[in-house]
Amino acid sequence: MSRADVVLGLQYGDEAKGKVTHYLAKYKTYTHVLRFNGGCNAGHTIYHKGKKFVTHHIPAGVFFGVKSIIGPGCVVNKEQFFKELQELRDGGLDVDNLVFIAENAHVITDEHLAEEQNESKIGTTKRGNGPAYRDKYARVGVRAKSVPELQPYLIDLYEEFHNCDYDNCDLSVLCEGAQGFWLDIDWGDYPYVTSSHCGIASALLNCIPPSWIKDIWGVGKIYETYVGAKQFEPQDEGDVFTKIRDIGQEYGATTGRPRQCNWLNLDDLKKSIKLNDVNKLVINKMDVLRDLDVWTLINNNEKVSFETEQEIEKYIREALPVKEIYFSDNKYSL
Ligand code: IMP
Ligand code: MG
Repeated sequence: MSRADVVLGLQYGDEAKGKVTHYLAKYKTYTHVLRFNGGCNAGHTIYHKGKKFVTHHIPAGVFFGVKSIIGPGCVVNKEQFFKELQELRDGGLDVDNLVFIAENAHVITDEHLAEEQNESKIGTTKRGNGPAYRDKYARVGVRAKSVPELQPYLIDLYEEFHNCDYDNCDLSVLCEGAQGFWLDIDWGDYPYVTSSHCGIASALLNCIPPSWIKDIWGVGKIYETYVGAKQFEPQDEGDVFTKIRDIGQEYGATTGRPRQCNWLNLDDLKKSIKLNDVNKLVINKMDVLRDLDVWTLINNNEKVSFETEQEIEKYIREALPVKEIYFSDNKYSL
């Protein structure tokens, strides 16, 4: 029987999903890694064998020789795609015959990019993401299938995943989400959202039958960050968030913008866990708060502070409806 695991962000993106995907791609035996939403608005910072890579389109399977697919839920900028392939090659990775684009994925055109350059109301990444999805849904978009340069990379996912008798199929797909659940077009704080679906249902739209889904890895951070036009960072907390931003290197991987910071909101985390049926949770960047020795979160709309890391971990374990919870540091390289 084939199976699929999913990695998705439970906050506003930048939860270090790339790290979790990279880890799972190394230690579990997947036949495919598939990105299921978003475009080059996403930026995954990955440390691989001591080298830093920032990928926007290409899923992390490529680091371990696993077939890496940009799914039909994504939008693709072809210049960025070829640039990224080259950067991976320059970094010593063999990418040939490993990287594919679903033929029904949509393309971000030069017009989409140009259109977004003066956008400021939402604070988008200006990568043409919104215009590309808008045109997809208006049925005037361009599919990857019709772009000559992309022909060698196209894949028909039905043929790839379903052209065999179900009981004899033994595929294992890791589905990698982009952004985070509170940036989801429907569930986020509209209009301060992205243009795609960032939750579990989005993975299923990429040729993954529901019965394949086994583990749903939700990824969060021990504090929150958000990049965009709305006011997010509390103004009455002194310089603690400036410190968190500096220690945690909270600057956008795509745009370099400083990320606004806030305490972990357990009420929101609980909701995103339930709505996405998360059964394995990773809470990243513990070392950032450890450096400051500040252990604070929001629960039931109130600020709660703890003396030690052990105390906050215990509190989180008791408050959340997930049995398997891993607390993890930022410092990590495979
Ligand atoms: P867009 O996705 O470029 O249209 O941007 C919409 C909102 O989502 C903005 O607030 C962006 O900063 C945010 N956003 C989009 N992609 C990411 C991401 O990968 N990480 C964090 N924020 C993102
Ligand atoms: Mg990111």
